[in-house]
Amino acid sequence: MFDLNLGDLTPEQFLSTYWQKKPHVFRAGFKNFEDPISPDELAGLAIDETVESRLVWHKDGDWNAAFGPFQSYDHLGEKNWSLIVQAVDNWAPDAAKMIEPFRFIPNWRLDDLMVSFASEGGSVGPHIDHYDVFICQGSGKRHWCVGDRGNLKEYAAHEALLHVEPFDAIIDTILEPGDILYIPPGFPHEGIGLEPSMSFSVGFRTNSATDMMSGLADFLIDNELGKQLIEDPDREISVTPGIINNSDKSRIKQHLQNILDDDSTMTHFAGCYFTTAKHELDIEIPEPLFENEDTISAIAEQPLKKLGGLRCSYLEKSIEEGIFYINGEQYALPASLSAAIKVLCNQQQIELSDITEWAENDDFIKFLTRMINEGYWYF
Ligand code: SIN
Ligand code: CO
Repeated sequence: MFDLNLGDLTPEQFLSTYWQKKPHVFRAGFKNFEDPISPDELAGLAIDETVESRLVWHKDGDWNAAFGPFQSYDHLGEKNWSLIVQAVDNWAPDAAKMIEPFRFIPNWRLDDLMVSFASEGGSVGPHIDHYDVFICQGSGKRHWCVGDRGNLKEYAAHEALLHVEPFDAIIDTILEPGDILYIPPGFPHEGIGLEPSMSFSVGFRTNSATDMMSGLADFLIDNELGKQLIEDPDREISVTPGIINNSDKSRIKQHLQNILDDDSTMTHFAGCYFTTAKHELDIEIPEPLFENEDTISAIAEQPLKKLGGLRCSYLEKSIEEGIFYINGEQYALPASLSAAIKVLCNQQQIELSDITEWAENDDFIKFLTRMINEGYWYF
């Protein structure tokens, strides 16, 4: 288990002082930290074409990047390269446990656990991210510089690498195993390996209005919603046919606003949109499939685990009706099971003591069995 040590800050104080506001280093944020995945295991993941990986290397000021899968690193030599693997929480359950101490930030804000190996001099270069990240130093040391937010120019150092112009450091430090650097969106930064080193980044990403509007449009199409046309039975004559006047502009805005104001549509949309997996899931269907009558006895023997990267959420409105969302789909159970649904959504694993109250409830058992047979929860 990873115990997060925010120094003398409580999570509440961290949120009010630093979250989205300013970067901070937590020395020994994880005490006695040991890499939950080794550099060789990371390279093993990067062989798999369904795993997102990147190599970044530089020589004499020229930057290069390539996308995985990768079979070998021999051509890169000893220095100045790094391997970055995305969504390691989907593939390596021991590494996924690093996310748990950060669950004081809700699931829908989480992006993934990104892991990087850097050789001496290895780095992805100076850049700006648009998400909050806790960069946890694993084995080895890295030199980190973080600058202030500002209007810094970004440029393509390579077609796949957006870098930022030089910045003055407000943090200039060496991270050692277990240290955690928190960086909010917009602060330029760069970490350079001082020796072969591992880094574990728990990232939290929000969504732009563009992303969400595009997701909402897809959602409306899939659910055959929002098809009503603008109506204007009160139209008055126009003497300037070229104009879209203020009254018409208000009518257009209101027509769109009606969708956003429809709480039931927005609840359903948010549930589906924010539980859609951001990266490939490592789904394995059990063989043979589970029978309803075996589920509870199996949980009595060992905890039932949620698949890494699987997103499950409920909304305050939906849970009253027993409605919740898993991996982009809406599910419904009787409203009397809402406390059981909360356990499923809030916890990463379930033990018998968590669900004794519903251990003989047919609807609940059938649902759990179905989830196990879809590979969403596993033993
Ligand atoms: C890295 O781990 O190599 C890069 C992390 C970052 O700068 O966001
Ligand atoms: Co970054």
